[in-house]
Amino acid sequence: MTARRGPQNGSSALDLFEGPRLGTSVRRLSGIESRFDVAFVADLALREKQVQQNYRPVIAVHKWFARRPGTLFRALLLSEFGEGALAEDFYRPHSLAGLRVADPFMGGGTPLVEANRLGCDVVGFDINPMAWWIVRQEIESIDLHAYTEAAERVLTALDSAVGALYRTRCEVCGRPDAKIKYFLWVKVQRCTKCGSDFDAFPGYLVAEDSRHTANVVCCARCGALAEVRSLEALGECPCCSAHLGLEGPAKRGKCLCPRCATVNQVPAASGGVPRHRMFAIEYHCDHCRGTHQGRFFKRPDAEDTARYAEAEQRAIGFSPHFAPDDPIPPGDETNRLLRWGYREWRHLFNARQVLGLELLCRQVATVPDDRVRDALATNVSDMLRYQNMLCRYDTWALKSLDIFSVHGFPVGLVQCESNLLGIRHAVTRTNVGSGGWTNIVEKFRRAKEYCERPFEVGVERGRKVVRPILGEWIGGSAPGTAQKRSVQLHCGSSTESSLPPASLDAVFTDPPYFANVQYAELMDFCYAWLRRLIDGREPAFCATSTRNAGELTGNATLSRGLDNFAAGLSSVFCRMAQALKEGAPLAFTYHHNSIDAYAPIAVGLLDAGLTCTASLPAPGEMGGSIHIHGTESSIIDTVFVCRTTGRVPRSALVETPAGVASLVLADLARLARGGVSVTRGDARCVAYGHLVRLAIWRTRPTWDKTAPWEQKLERVQQAVCIGGGWPEIEKLLPPDALTRRCDATGLREDSTAYGEPKDADAVDF
Ligand SMILES: C[S@@+](CC[C@H](N)C(=O)[O-])C[C@H]1O[C@@H](n2cnc3c(N)ncnc32)[C@H](O)[C@@H]1O
Ligand SMILES: [Zn+2]
Ligand SMILES: [Zn+2]
Ligand SMILES: [Zn+2]
Repeated sequence: MTARRGPQNGSSALDLFEGPRLGTSVRRLSGIESRFDVAFVADLALREKQVQQNYRPVIAVHKWFARRPGTLFRALLLSEFGEGALAEDFYRPHSLAGLRVADPFMGGGTPLVEANRLGCDVVGFDINPMAWWIVRQEIESIDLHAYTEAAERVLTALDSAVGALYRTRCEVCGRPDAKIKYFLWVKVQRCTKCGSDFDAFPGYLVAEDSRHTANVVCCARCGALAEVRSLEALGECPCCSAHLGLEGPAKRGKCLCPRCATVNQVPAASGGVPRHRMFAIEYHCDHCRGTHQGRFFKRPDAEDTARYAEAEQRAIGFSPHFAPDDPIPPGDETNRLLRWGYREWRHLFNARQVLGLELLCRQVATVPDDRVRDALATNVSDMLRYQNMLCRYDTWALKSLDIFSVHGFPVGLVQCESNLLGIRHAVTRTNVGSGGWTNIVEKFRRAKEYCERPFEVGVERGRKVVRPILGEWIGGSAPGTAQKRSVQLHCGSSTESSLPPASLDAVFTDPPYFANVQYAELMDFCYAWLRRLIDGREPAFCATSTRNAGELTGNATLSRGLDNFAAGLSSVFCRMAQALKEGAPLAFTYHHNSIDAYAPIAVGLLDAGLTCTASLPAPGEMGGSIHIHGTESSIIDTVFVCRTTGRVPRSALVETPAGVASLVLADLARLARGGVSVTRGDARCVAYGHLVRLAIWRTRPTWDKTAPWEQKLERVQQAVCIGGGWPEIEKLLPPDALTRRCDATGLREDSTAYGEPKDADAVDF
């Protein structure tokens, strides 16, 4: 195991900068600026973001939004504190004991967990109680045996209470106990003219043939499910002989009534909570599994509708304690729910879901062991995203898309209800389908196993190999030993944090990206339930909502603009800068499609007296992410590395659009070597990173921290646009660097901005 260069080795992290503090050229440029390997990290981060759970199973403890790659933060930490070449260091165990690292915006805990795993003491802040809870669940150890037994007991109880509501008669063998994977529901509305109910189908395709033996299409006239070979020649319904079609009557907020041909608004202006009609079921039959080809689809029969009616009856008969009747407050994201007629959080769940989830909560609440009960409560909270009537069915992958597959509350016309219990294959015992209790418990168990025995996934001769990193662990105390490390998690605004001066060796973070994600608005969906399970035991969970006036996100409903964001970031960066040891790094990821959203970052850093020593590109999102796909958005974040004192290479301090263009091209070439197909949007974000870094460099000698926010923002905005900004740089980039999926091999690395510069090539600050 590699020990850190730190006090117990006779030197300190500050020795990265040797020599006097200012004005001489004896100090070496070291740390992230010279040791970070863009291509190596790009390759890792890109692979991680494709299936993040395989690389960082700990994230499965609970959903959090916009998690950056764990591999990126491990690489940053090791570039700063490691010993050898990053690509070798990365796969070696480390013990950075004695170093203290903070994250003022911990969210799902990615930077903090990476630092903790490397042996650092950590201190984290988040204003959102859900984030605080989730990181605690990630870090706190658990007796996995006791957890698994308790989760099984809950499952058994749940099965006897509601299991029958998820059974159906198999249409192949006729047995009554096939297990339902998904129920598909279509929104139903009353015609304003003739008063009859109509189905607001946007289309009739239920399933494509990629994962099934045929395409499945619902007949618009009789509702039968027809299996068809070709989507080009659908033919007739085998049941009623009507012509099958793919296109439904609902389009762009309007739907034609099939009875009187009136065009109705969808949703209706005064519709109340949306109603749904069950029109298809995908199920699993253990008996037929071996002989039947493909999946099992059926149109619900009378027994299926009767079962749902039974759930409705039972749900009426009891008063829920856990299913939240809290009103949904208005907001940038929640307004859409209100527009659709949802008023309370529990309106997002159908009767069977309310019944099942309520009984599940009651079971969990009776678990005597606090640690195990908290873990199970976390599981319920995370499962909610699959167990609500906003989930959609992926007609290609044939699985449920959870509510948070986008960062919002998109309301569809066809919704997917998943089996609450989950389905285990009769022979292999592996999970069939997604989103049920058995799925969530299995993911959580794997997450906590990974905390005890973390690993990295490497590639050897083109094949992925799991490499255990022996000796590393995630937690406050090592499993089975007396080893301890400090973990301080604070639920509160980091604008009010107070850390002792010069007490931190680094700050690694991922601040909100202005208005990209409305954390509190979205997380209230889970919080409303989890709060009831926690039942007043945690002061952080006493409020009815996770919303907080101090949340640093741009929000139109709450009139929180760039100045508010700048003021907040400034306060946080100032507090972190004074808590950092001299020359220690504050590094964070950021990206935005608008250059204006970078100005608050620059203002905050300038106020804090920090200088940006490098702006490094790294993949942060996945190209295929549902919220990214098909947009001009970038998957590339800039890692801003900042210090109060240090040195920067002269070659990175360019002054013209041509100079920035050459830095951008060099970065794109490095990304390309890491396997990233760079796009126009990516190039723009890389350029923004440099423009902001340079604006900070140019503005800092005359920066007036006391000027009004508007003035400070304007000053930075002007500095960022010097020389014409991105439009001028764009003109200087070869066209093949700007097209989607450009041929990365065409890019040449023609300048080296970072690396070990000769003394004359570096500038101290
Ligand atoms: C981008 S997320 C962090 C994501 C995280 N690094 C991860 O990997 O999951 C930003 C976080 O900042 C938090 N936040 C916003 N305003 C804050 C404030 N004033 N103080 C502390 N945290 C805040 C949000 O709740 C959110 O969790
Ligand atoms: Zn069967
Ligand atoms: Zn009508
Ligand atoms: Zn038909």
